[in-house]
Amino acid sequence: MARRKTDESGFSRRTFLKRVGATGAAAGVLGTTATAKAQGVNAVGPGAVPIQLNVNGQVHQLEVEPRVTLLDALRTRLNITGVKRVCDRGACGACTMIVDNKTIYACSTLAIEAQGKAIRTVESFTQGTVLHPVQQAFCDHDGLMCGFCTPGFVTSVVALLEKNPKPTREQALKALDGNICRCGTYVRVLEAALDPKSATGGRRG
Ligand code: FES
Ligand code: FES
Repeated sequence: MARRKTDESGFSRRTFLKRVGATGAAAGVLGTTATAKAQGVNAVGPGAVPIQLNVNGQVHQLEVEPRVTLLDALRTRLNITGVKRVCDRGACGACTMIVDNKTIYACSTLAIEAQGKAIRTVESFTQGTVLHPVQQAFCDHDGLMCGFCTPGFVTSVVALLEKNPKPTREQALKALDGNICRCGTYVRVLEAALDPKSATGGRRG
């Protein structure tokens, strides 16, 4: 399963890099935020600015520097740690979240960009002590080993099945092509994704 670019999302790795590049270029050309503002550029930072994030249906107010990623904002500011940091460069899928019903790499998305959007993490899937059907299927098919990549895989499968409850093998492979498992549980992850019991029949969480 090769690396995926978050295709439909506005938060692709390419977008992230372009924005960071633009920020760097702007800093080089304009020098300071004050200079940017004087030239009519809508700039914020470099210090912390107040932002509001809707995570798993709960609104959080926080202050972050504009350079802070969504992954860092959730893990280090909000203590929402189910989503893992592995490569931190948009290559492995461990940090996959669902934002406005599309999967994104949270390590390659600025927190400030995610304002006004519905952010969902793996924490939202369990209902009390009852696992989401996809989580249960991962257990039933032994689709997890290290645990670091698992939240990302589960999130990608949930996002797929919410759109397409009966995916073909090829569709499931495509949906998972941005998630990497270094210990090779792909076959079992795929079995879990294709297990009819995994289909949520609509959005949960
Ligand atoms: S930690 Fe984000 S893609 Fe690897
Ligand atoms: S189960 Fe996490 S890398 Fe394979």
